[in-house]
This record gives sequence, structure tokens and C-alpha cells, in this order.
Amino acid sequence: MTERKKITLPYLFQKAQEGEPISWLTCYDYPTAYLQEQAGVEMILVGDSLGMTMLGYDTTLPVTMDDMIRHAAAVRRGAPTAFVVGDMPYMSYQPSDEIAVKNAGRFMAEAGCDAIKLEGGQAMAPRIRAIVDAGIPAIGHLGLTPQSVSALGGFRLQGKSAVLAKKIVDDAKALEEAGAFAILLEMVPDRLCKIITERAKNTLIFSLGSGPHAHGQLLIYHDMFGLYPKFKPKMAKVFGNAGEVILNGLKQYVSEVKSQTFPAPENWFGMPEQEYEELLKMLGE
Ligand code: KIV
Repeated sequence: MTERKKITLPYLFQKAQEGEPISWLTCYDYPTAYLQEQAGVEMILVGDSLGMTMLGYDTTLPVTMDDMIRHAAAVRRGAPTAFVVGDMPYMSYQPSDEIAVKNAGRFMAEAGCDAIKLEGGQAMAPRIRAIVDAGIPAIGHLGLTPQSVSALGGFRLQGKSAVLAKKIVDDAKALEEAGAFAILLEMVPDRLCKIITERAKNTLIFSLGSGPHAHGQLLIYHDMFGLYPKFKPKMAKVFGNAGEVILNGLKQYVSEVKSQTFPAPENWFGMPEQEYEELLKMLGE
């Protein structure tokens, strides 16, 4: 286990003040959370992207609160000191402030999260305000917001024109005024991310595919290690091909079972000779 102290909000703001970028990754399970904790990853997002990466859906829309809580609690067990963020799934916050606060509270009480994240701009500012007023740290998410993928016309760059970029600047301001302690900008142009970061006063700005000018970076873990078979977004860097390593290991397993080279004596358990003889006698053999 790491000796690291618990990562807190003051720690995150201190890093931003010192100009040291904050590391943030998605994670959905205990063993990966354990590795991320050992590696020193500071923030973990239990994203509703688990609908695609772990559950095999084509979008994040079918993910439920119960799915999220189950995965977030496992991540917390694996990463006791990381700053764990629970991602609010589709329709767990959109209908009303009351529903949003209730579900945000589940992440804190049932999964031990440190904060929640939700998607949307000015229209969702009241939800952020209600959640923050309930004492729960909240993160906004702008740009490519996967829960609105249909309305946005697919998984594509957002805020490319001046008019659309200005709307994202306004949305960021609205979320900051509503009390979001951080805002994630997903797939917006780097110079738009820079403007929003420079204007942010009490909010940390994170980039996912939005360039280097932010207080921190987020990546999807499965994209980093070749673990999502359907596609690899341009913004993701592959840091190692674990998918290939695992696939080769699986093929070898099948081959060794067929050729009877697995299991070998070191993979099974023997019985004392005397006990074995006794057993045969008892069985009349
Ligand atoms: O669910 C998720 O992992 C996310 C990222 C795409 C930012 O929200």
C-alpha cells in the first residue's frame, strides 16, 4: 500500500496554484484502482463510460445509479487515498434538483466518493448549486458531453466556431458561479480551453483532449492500454498495449489446455500416499 496522505480539495487547489498539473484517470474496478493508487494517480473518475468500456453498451445512456454505486465502491476500496469522483449517469440528475441531490448523496454515502460530476452548461447550473448547497463537491462537464451525443451529432470536437466557443465560455462561467469546484472540458479546441482556464477564478479546469492549458489532465484508462476494442479516440495516447498482452496470454492458455501442458505439477495439489491408499480402501478399489 502507498504511504500517501488522502488527496483533498485543498491539495488540488494548492497544486493548481503551484502550476503543477493534476493527474486524473477513469477507473471502474478494484484491481485497477489499486494500481492507479500505487502509481500516484491523484484523481479517479468512476465514469459512466463504464457502460461502454465495462458493460459493452454502445453509449452511456443505459447506465443506472446502482451500476455506478457498485463500481464506485469497488474503486474506493482499491484506492483509499485518491480523490474519487462519481459520475452521475443519464437521468440521475436532469429531472430535478431534488433527484440530483438524492443521487449525488448516494455516491458519497454508499460508495465513499469525494465529489460528483455531471454534464451540461447553464441549464444544469441549478443542479450544481443544489448539490453544492447540500455539502457535496461538484464538477461540471462541458464540450463533448456523451449523454447528449445524439443532440451533438456524434463524438466530435465541440466549440469550433466563435459562436459555439463563446457559449462554452458562458457555460463555464455559469457553472463556476453555481459553485462547481472544477470543470472538465472534453474535446474543445486548445485555445478555447486556455481562455477558460485563464478566466477561472475559483474553479479548476481539466482537459480531456482539449490541450495542455488546464490545471489537470484526464484520460480514459481503457483507451490508454488498448482495452476498448471498438475504437481509439485521437485524443487518447496508448501508453501500453495490455489488450494485446492479455489476448496473447489467453491464446496460450487455450493452446496449453489442448496440448495438456497446463496444468503442470506446480499448479495442482497432491495427497499424502497413506491417505490416498486409505481412500482407495474405503472406496473398495
Ligand atoms: O464517463 C466518463 O468517463 C466521462 C469521461 C468521458 C469524461 O464522463
